[in-house]
Amino acid sequence: MALKLEPGTRLVIATHNPGKARELAEMLEHRFDVVTAADLALPEPEETESTFAGNALLKARSAAEASGLVALADDSGLSVRALGGQPGVYSARWAGPGRDFDLAMQKVEQRLDAAESDDTAAWFTCALAIAWPGGPAVVVEGRVDGALTFPPRGGRGFGYDPIFMAEGRRQTFGEMDPAEKAQMSHRARAYAKLKAALV
Ligand code: IMP
Repeated sequence: MALKLEPGTRLVIATHNPGKARELAEMLEHRFDVVTAADLALPEPEETESTFAGNALLKARSAAEASGLVALADDSGLSVRALGGQPGVYSARWAGPGRDFDLAMQKVEQRLDAAESDDTAAWFTCALAIAWPGGPAVVVEGRVDGALTFPPRGGRGFGYDPIFMAEGRRQTFGEMDPAEKAQMSHRARAYAKLKAALV
């Protein structure tokens, strides 16, 4: 079945994370009438799935049912090769209840030190899911590979951006112009696939 999203459709971005909401709203290029789950005070469902795609679908379906609107959800995270892919789907949880990403980045550094590995390879994954209330859903995934660097650098972006350098780049995502991050990020790559999946 061909799924269509008409320009001007009222769309809820199923996130309470302002960094994600900002990047997603910019990718949508004002083509839709966007509100966030935080604007609508929608409940945040527990992320009980073990994959990015599973959690993105769960969040999109929950927001679509709660709001009666088409919902776009993002589930994303950082995976570190020397840590067997951790923190992965637990990326937000490593920041603790205070959502303290300085703490989360320290935790990554400490675990890497403990692993006594020189391997700094890491990647961000983003699963984007779009769900229609009572209807179908689509989920896609994008990934960007790179390397970790310590100490953290740059006050732009959000989350783990200050310790991540995309392949071939010396600037971290935290130092990079947001427009440049938006051209190569895991979120941008997932969004390109989502656009291709919708007519
Ligand atoms: P969740 O998708 O709500 O489980 O949260 C994902 C977490 O991964 C975020 O809170 C960020 O810490 C991290 N994350 C996802 N995308 C990015 C990004 O583009 N830059 C930095 N950190 C990110």
